[in-house]
Amino acid sequence: MTPSQLSQVRAEFPSLASGFVFLDNAGGSQVLGRVADRIRDYLTTTSVQLGASYAVSQAASEKVLAARRAIAEMVNAVHDEEIVMGGSTTGLMFQFTSALSYVIQPGDEIIVTETDHEANIGGWKRLERFGAVVKMWKVNRETLELDLAELDKLLSPRTKWVAMTWASNVLGTVNPVAEVAKRVHAVGGRLAVDAVAYAPHRLVDVQASGADIVVFSFYKVFGPHYALLWGRHELLKSLPGINHFFIGSDVLPYKLQPGNVNFELSHGCAGIADYLVDMGTSFGASGSRRERMQHAFDVFARHEDVLAERLLSWLATKTNIRVIGRPEVRDGDRMPTISFVVHGRRSEDIVRAVDPHGIGIRFGDFYARHLCEALGINAAHGGVVRVSVAHYNSMQEIDRLISALESAIQ
Ligand SMILES: Cc1ncc(COP(=O)(O)O)c(C=O)c1O
Repeated sequence: MTPSQLSQVRAEFPSLASGFVFLDNAGGSQVLGRVADRIRDYLTTTSVQLGASYAVSQAASEKVLAARRAIAEMVNAVHDEEIVMGGSTTGLMFQFTSALSYVIQPGDEIIVTETDHEANIGGWKRLERFGAVVKMWKVNRETLELDLAELDKLLSPRTKWVAMTWASNVLGTVNPVAEVAKRVHAVGGRLAVDAVAYAPHRLVDVQASGADIVVFSFYKVFGPHYALLWGRHELLKSLPGINHFFIGSDVLPYKLQPGNVNFELSHGCAGIADYLVDMGTSFGASGSRRERMQHAFDVFARHEDVLAERLLSWLATKTNIRVIGRPEVRDGDRMPTISFVVHGRRSEDIVRAVDPHGIGIRFGDFYARHLCEALGINAAHGGVVRVSVAHYNSMQEIDRLISALESAIQ
């Protein structure tokens, strides 16, 4: 990104003006000013119940429907009805798996991964109460990869679901979901993808992913605490509803969305799509809205790679540091979410030593509990130190972090 492009991007995020260095973006990103404005606009002009015949209610209904259309377009859904909105990824996964609990049969197999956030494990494990058999796709202890050969050993004609993350929120690794989808579909199963750590860095294309459901949260993608679950139309149609008995099983997405969605946050989130289109246009793209969004993400990704490379190369010079994840950026298959441990040190001590520098980074297992326990990181270090970069970060911020870390790891 050129300096003027970066200034243009940063001007969209009011909180960046404070000078604080936000490098806990995988925890939660900063919010676009235009998203906050839209939320305020909704609340101060059309905060009424939807679906009534009076004019303000009609205007409110149109705003919420338009938001769903914008979000459906942003993720390349085939139908708007495929978009289920909810408060969080965790909540939506519990809703989804509770719908599945009506159809799961004893002996049905579900595969979860050792690298996932618990949001994409816990709901599946609860299906054991209904007779499901949940198997764990373990991470390779040396390479920290999810080997496809391991998946092949776990797949069987009884596999109903595989649940995996598109990108790990600790390792930063981008997983080959389209390849996994092929293998899962070949045995008659379905694929559920957690895109929470992917969506802030790449344009989600649910159709190209090959997945059957994709879930992510907007508070990591420059918006508020709100989330979406996309599912294939025929799949969602076939599921039992979890809403009131009189909401028909063909009423999508309402049958899977108990209660009201959050109207103002829905309206706010459409501003994320507009931001991406505007950035893509101003970086030189033309064509459809999605083509412009794609161009914005291409520019963002190149910038993030440069920042990640700087931090990873500094970490590589330290003999007492182990990067937990791929040690370098290769062909776009690594997110700028960089975790590490310092030999003989608790991760908390490192992070607390950085806090006074006005830089936000974080320690812990980030609810990838199975991964951090399997690697012995929780016991030895109390979790990893995680630095997570967003496209609005600058090289100066990374250099400030490196100099703070330089003294913290002494
Ligand atoms: C990869 C991943 N999945 C799921 C979640 C959970 O998201 P939510 O807080 O919206 O439930 C997180 C949150 O950190 C995450 O990083």
